[in-house]
Amino acid sequence: MRKRTFGNSDLETSVIGYGGWPMGRGQYGPFDDDNAIKSAKISYENGITLFDTAAIYGWGYGEKLMGKAIKDFRKNIVLVTKGAREWDRNNPDRNTATIADSDPIKLANSIDESLRRLQTDYIDLFLIHWPDKTRPFSVPMEVLEKAKKDGKIRYSGVSNFSVSMMEESLQSSDIITNQIGYHIFDRRPEEEVMPYIKKKNMGIMAYGSMAHGLLTGRWNTSKTFSNDDWRQNTTNFGLHSWSKENLKSNLEVVNKIQELGNEYNKSITQLAISWVLANDTVSVALAGSTKPENSKENIGGDWDMPDELKKEIDKIVLTTGSGVGKSGMEIAT
Ligand SMILES: NC(=O)c1ccc[n+]([C@@H]2O[C@H](COP(=O)([O-])OP(=O)(O)OC[C@H]3O[C@@H](n4cnc5c(N)ncnc54)[C@H](OP(=O)(O)O)[C@@H]3O)[C@@H](O)[C@H]2O)c1
Repeated sequence: MRKRTFGNSDLETSVIGYGGWPMGRGQYGPFDDDNAIKSAKISYENGITLFDTAAIYGWGYGEKLMGKAIKDFRKNIVLVTKGAREWDRNNPDRNTATIADSDPIKLANSIDESLRRLQTDYIDLFLIHWPDKTRPFSVPMEVLEKAKKDGKIRYSGVSNFSVSMMEESLQSSDIITNQIGYHIFDRRPEEEVMPYIKKKNMGIMAYGSMAHGLLTGRWNTSKTFSNDDWRQNTTNFGLHSWSKENLKSNLEVVNKIQELGNEYNKSITQLAISWVLANDTVSVALAGSTKPENSKENIGGDWDMPDELKKEIDKIVLTTGSGVGKSGMEIAT
């Protein structure tokens, strides 16, 4: 598998990263723990060296499972987790609203909690999950700088931050990445966020490479979600890619993309991942999966998509896709 660095930092990652949200119990529908662990292992065996999770995934459950999955190869990987998104610990429903909260004491404690859940004594890359607009961004950045000095984290970054938020954060910490939604159906970061990240020699962690499941070829017009699945909401990070009125037309887009891919012997998930990687500001395309066979298939996304294929895909999505994020539209912060 190919490798990239995060901008001009010396932190290297496989171009595809294993995404841990689907193993956050209570948020991404039902799954089998053993299969999720096998998925992570099979990803590692096939060259994936970056594993992404967050405290909020399953309210700690996702980190615990990730910790079990990577235990045997922890030292060989880049382990990424996120904090500063708090939840009501007395509420058993893990799919209810949570809030961005970068209170410095809570954030410092949450780093220690993540270390415990992940069964490790350092986190390679720690991200502020969502911007807490009630405080200056120097507040969480200073907590991350202290955690670096204490040897608890190696690198710092942010997620879902706009240009001005990154600018402010960079005054207090050498953040190396912004983890943002970027995929065939969401091109909102292209106009402002991506050029800024490139200019600052940082790298993007792209999330939702398969549009959170829409780009897998497994959905049909009767697709429904269980109550413990965030995708039952009508919006996906501010977009409406699979709302009732848009699902049919977007599934037709997915079929058309698959037809183009047949010529190259590529499945829709492999096309979706390689499309993300065609952008050189992207350091790593995150792909979430709890099934070993799916994770194995996704490895084939490490492929240099020909320019003409990318142009054809873009034309189809931008002319016939519905509820999609176009370049320049505001990203969800
Ligand atoms: N920073 C943030 O705010 C943020 C937001 C969203 C995501 N993320 C990160 O980015 C990662 C990727 O995003 P995501 O997981 O939401 O979306 P994704 O990777 O686009 O899609 C995940 C979904 O696709 C399914 N899938 C994956 N490979 C498949 C295959 N080959 N065939 C059929 N289905 C397949 C998975 O199902 P199965 O489990 O059944 O395989 C899962 O339901 C997350 O896991 C998380 O680490 C970060």
